[in-house]
Amino acid sequence: MKAVVFHGLGDIRLDDVPDPALSSEFDAIVRLTASAICGTDLHFIRGTMAGVEPGTILGHEGVGIIEALGEGVRNLEVGDRVVIPSTVACGYCSYCRAGYYAQCDNANPHGPGTAFYGGPKEAGGLNGMQAEKVRVPFAHVNLVKLPDAVSDDEAILISDIFPTGYFGADMADIKPGHTVAVLGCGPVGQFAIASARMLGAGRVIAIDQHDDRLDMARAQGAETVNFAVEDPVETVKRLTGGIGVDAVIDAVGVDAEHAHGGPAAEHPAPGAARDASPDARSDAASWKAGDGPMQALAWAVEMVAKAGTLSIIGVYPPTDNLFPIGAAMNKNLTVRMGNCNHRKYIPMLVERVRLGEVAPTRILTQREPLSDALAAYEAFDQRRPGWIKVELQPRQPGRKGNG
Ligand SMILES: NC(=O)c1ccc[n+]([C@@H]2O[C@H](COP(=O)([O-])OP(=O)(O)OC[C@H]3O[C@@H](n4cnc5c(N)ncnc54)[C@H](O)[C@@H]3O)[C@@H](O)[C@H]2O)c1
Ligand SMILES: [Zn+2]
Ligand SMILES: [Zn+2]
Repeated sequence: MKAVVFHGLGDIRLDDVPDPALSSEFDAIVRLTASAICGTDLHFIRGTMAGVEPGTILGHEGVGIIEALGEGVRNLEVGDRVVIPSTVACGYCSYCRAGYYAQCDNANPHGPGTAFYGGPKEAGGLNGMQAEKVRVPFAHVNLVKLPDAVSDDEAILISDIFPTGYFGADMADIKPGHTVAVLGCGPVGQFAIASARMLGAGRVIAIDQHDDRLDMARAQGAETVNFAVEDPVETVKRLTGGIGVDAVIDAVGVDAEHAHGGPAAEHPAPGAARDASPDARSDAASWKAGDGPMQALAWAVEMVAKAGTLSIIGVYPPTDNLFPIGAAMNKNLTVRMGNCNHRKYIPMLVERVRLGEVAPTRILTQREPLSDALAAYEAFDQRRPGWIKVELQPRQPGRKGNG
C-alpha cells in the first residue's frame, strides 16, 4: 500500500509499504477513507520534537471501514464505518477508566507516556494513518462507530483536532461569560475557539499572525489580534480594561514564532531557543522550526488575569523545561495541560455533530488525494494562504461524505 513515511528531519516520502496485519486478538485493520495532516506532524519533520524512527508511517487522524477484526473485539463488525482517536488506550487500566486515556498504562510498548499513531518511539512507535490501511490495537475502545449522518469530512476533524480543542476549553474551566484568549489559530486553535463558545465563553480573543487564520477565527465570532502588527499582551489588556483574560488556551506549542513585526518584535524571544530541541531545523527554507519556542507560553502568562487559568494543548517535547514559573506562581495561576484524552470526548462530539449542533467542516479547507500528500504537506508547512486543515484521501471505493 501507499503511505507517507518519515525518513529523517526534512525528509518524508510517499512509499510503497507492506499492508498491516492483525497481531493480537484485540486488533483491527481499518481501510482508511480519510486521513489528515496535523501541526504535530510538523514538529517531527522540523526537528522540534525528536525521536520518530525512520520508516515510521506518519499520521494520527483517521476515518475508515473495518476490514479485519481480532476475535477479542466483541462490539464491532467487519464493514463498520469508524473514526479513530489519535491516542491509543487499553480501556481497562485505572487511567482509562478515569478518562485519562492519554495516560494509559498498557497502550505504549516503549514507555510510560502517551501512545499515539505515527509518532516517536517513546510514544509507542506505532505506524500511522497517512496510508491506505492501519492496524488499531485495543480496537474495542480505539474505534468509535459513526452514524451515517456524520460524513467523512466531519469525522476526520473529530479524530484529533476537535476533541483537542474541546479538551483545551474544558481544562480552561470556562464559566458562562468568561473571556478566553486562544493563542494560535491553526486547526486546533479554531476548534479551541469553537469549543470555548460551546462552553459559554462570553468573549474569545484569538491571536496569530496569519490573516487567513485570523479571518476564520473572526468568522467564528472571535475578536482577533495580529501579533506581527500589535503587541498581543498590551492589546489583550486594552481589550479587557487592563485586567487580562480569565483563561488562555495555548494552541501553538514548540514551533511558536517570535514576533517579526510590530512592537512585540522589539522584545527579545523568551527562553533559551533550542536547548530542548538541539536538532531543530532553524536555518532551513522549508520545515523550519519556530524561532520562539516559549513565546506563546510567555505571552499567555502575561495576558491572563491574576488567578486565571492557563490551558496548554500546544505540544512541547519531554525535554522542554523553560516554563515561566516565577511569573505564573506570583499571579496565583492555575495551569493545566496535556495530551488530549481523545476517547473521552469523541462519542459526545460525534453525537453533537450528528444533531447538527456544531458544523465543523468550515475549518476543513483542503481535500487532497494521498498521492499528493507531499505537496499538501509543503503547503501546510509553508502556511500557504487558505491552507488551514488538510484532509488526505486514500483513493478507495465506497467512500462516504466526499464533500
Ligand atoms: N495536546 C494534544 O493532544 C494535541 C493534539 C493535536 C495537536 N496538538 C498541538 O496543537 C498545536 C497546534 O496544532 P495545529 O494543527 O493547529 O498547528 P499549526 O501549526 O497549523 O498552527 C499553529 C498556529 O500557531 C501560530 N503561532 C505561531 N507562533 C505563535 C505565537 N507566538 N502566538 C500565537 N500564535 C502563534 C501559527 O501561525 C499557526 O497558525 C501543535 O503544537 C500541535 O502539536 C496537540
Ligand atoms: Zn494531531
Ligand atoms: Zn489503559
